Amino acid sequence: MSLADDYKRQFGWRPWPSIFDALPSLPEQIVLDLGCGVGDQAAEFAARGARVIGIDANEELLRQARARRLPNAEFRLCDLRASPDLGVVVDGLWCSFTASYFPDLPAALAAWAKHLRPGGWAALTEIDDLFGHEPLGSPTKALLDAYARDALAAGRYDFFMGRKLRNHLERSGFAVLKTLTLEDQELAFAGPARAEVLDAWRSRFDRMQLLRVFCGPNFERVREEFLGCLACAGHRSTAEVYCCIAAKTGAPAAGARTR
Ligand SMILES: C[S@@+](CC[C@H](N)C(=O)[O-])C[C@H]1O[C@@H](n2cnc3c(N)ncnc32)[C@H](O)[C@@H]1O
Repeated sequence: MSLADDYKRQFGWRPWPSIFDALPSLPEQIVLDLGCGVGDQAAEFAARGARVIGIDANEELLRQARARRLPNAEFRLCDLRASPDLGVVVDGLWCSFTASYFPDLPAALAAWAKHLRPGGWAALTEIDDLFGHEPLGSPTKALLDAYARDALAAGRYDFFMGRKLRNHLERSGFAVLKTLTLEDQELAFAGPARAEVLDAWRSRFDRMQLLRVFCGPNFERVREEFLGCLACAGHRSTAEVYCCIAAKTGAPAAGARTR
């Protein structure tokens, strides 16, 4: 299964209805979709009467997004790390499951907020503690924790971004209006995973080539133990999916709060 197919399959497991219900009114709004992937959320915005500009660095995913031929949507190839000037002013910033790729999120938010009109809104959704599932043995937990620390130190990915969204937004000139904690049928759930969810996790592990290198000869053992944990009757997640909806105030907050 391709990455695009994996992303399309995940769409049905995410808590999108709860998130879209919490957004400001969308008709006539212009929304910048940061890390738009295959355009699933852009399709939701277009269906609600918004105009969407989707940005992603992956041309394969963008091809799928463009093939939808959505009304009022355009998709641009762009590396958001380069803080590009997109030449647009928008009403809303949407960033779902992409913030973790920007461990220095305040710097990224400062660049993205330049495209947002004063008083405009931002909706950031992110997983917190992707590998937070129990029961796992101590050696496997220790290896996954070490991998998460390595990814953060290298500036690749912050596995604990979900809990930091609020603080980062407040430090970056946004007033947080709502924080939602959401269930997710693949990422944050209790009880044994369904077969297709297990298959999606196997696919995720197989895509994580850096994790394979990091774990070395332990990779297969770690993957199988993790999948066994998801499949067992006593499975529970400590991982959480958070969504923060905020308004641009223009002035970074003096004292940022930690969640
Ligand atoms: C986990 S996917 C989320 C896709 C979609 N937003 C969703 O919620 O299903 C993360 C997306 O961010 C994109 N991405 C990661 N780093 C990026 C960067 N530096 N510039 C542009 N896009 C990036 C990836 O290509 C991918 O499509």
